[in-house]
Amino acid sequence: MSEPVLQVRDLRVYYHTDEGAVKAVDGVSFDLEPRVRLGLVGESGSGKSTVALALLRMIKPPGRIEGGQALLNGRDLFKLSEEEMRKVRLREISLIPQGAMNSLNPVMRVKDQIIDGMKDHDEELPAAELEERVYELLDSVELGRDVADKYPHELSGGMKQRVCVAIAISMRPKVIIADEPTSALDVVIQRQVMETIGRLQEALGSSVILIGHDMGLMAQFVDRLAVMYAGKLAEVGTVQDIFTEPLHPYTQLLIGSLPGLETKGVFKGIPGLPPSLLSLPPGCVFHPRCPQVMDICSEQAPNLEEVSPGRWVACHLYGKER
Ligand SMILES: Nc1ncnc2c1ncn2[C@@H]1O[C@H](COP(=O)(O)OP(=O)(O)OP(=O)(O)O)[C@@H](O)[C@H]1O
Ligand code: SF4
Ligand SMILES: [Mg+2]
Repeated sequence: MSEPVLQVRDLRVYYHTDEGAVKAVDGVSFDLEPRVRLGLVGESGSGKSTVALALLRMIKPPGRIEGGQALLNGRDLFKLSEEEMRKVRLREISLIPQGAMNSLNPVMRVKDQIIDGMKDHDEELPAAELEERVYELLDSVELGRDVADKYPHELSGGMKQRVCVAIAISMRPKVIIADEPTSALDVVIQRQVMETIGRLQEALGSSVILIGHDMGLMAQFVDRLAVMYAGKLAEVGTVQDIFTEPLHPYTQLLIGSLPGLETKGVFKGIPGLPPSLLSLPPGCVFHPRCPQVMDICSEQAPNLEEVSPGRWVACHLYGKER
């Protein structure tokens, strides 16, 4: 395998609330190889968006990156100055945030919203050139030139989401993170937008982290899957491996609960409640719900270990402790 474009190591992000520290992301590590599509799945509140925001250094108080590394082509994003980070955003790594299409500025024309981001990087570019770039970008996301002068309320959901995609790829980043980019759209439009994202990713030679709940969509779109539970990764591997032979008991329950690969299985989680991120259970965070729990599980937290090439599992049933 080629050198990863992104290496995340022991990422920890806590939200400091009155009740204590919410450990939203607590020791997440993974690699993203060039041109690979990685899906990040997990129940609501498992920390997926927090991972995305942390990688862009967009965590806001009371949230804080407590530790870890995010090496983008070997450079630790967490060590960059604000100014350096501003340049990296959009140009090297970009995010389509959760709910992006509803966060477009309602009183700003589409073209100005696209130009806004680019201007941060290419202040020198003359207006005419910026406008030409806007048309090219609209073209690449399969929107007509007339969209440039429209306001968000004049566009359908799918069109708005395409505008968000255009913004995210405007500086041709090598890593694109898409946080539930299609969850608000109906199935047909969903597929079309995903196809556009996929086509652009291939054209740019970029890697994608797709965050979502829809396992059917994941099965179709991504190469690798990372399963998140209570702020930690339970399992990482190829989509094929995870769907056909899930190793982590949590993943096993999840996959077992899906109607089938061809159907639109939506990740709803499994029966019971995930733990409070304010007071996580000792040992393995999944132990109170695990059907295969052992004595060691409530005492010692399992590490995410590579059990076969490219296959990572955090569970005492596997790995060195076994
Ligand atoms: N600003 C905040 N203050 C306190 N807690 C927060 C804040 N933002 C997020 N959290 C908590 O952090 C945890 C992770 O949230 P996050 O949004 O990353 O989850 P998610 O996996 O993206 O969920 P979803 O699938 O619903 O989008 C949740 O328990 C959430 O309540
Ligand atoms: S470490 Fe133990 S409790 Fe956790 S998933 Fe594995 S078997 Fe279950
Ligand atoms: Mg989220």
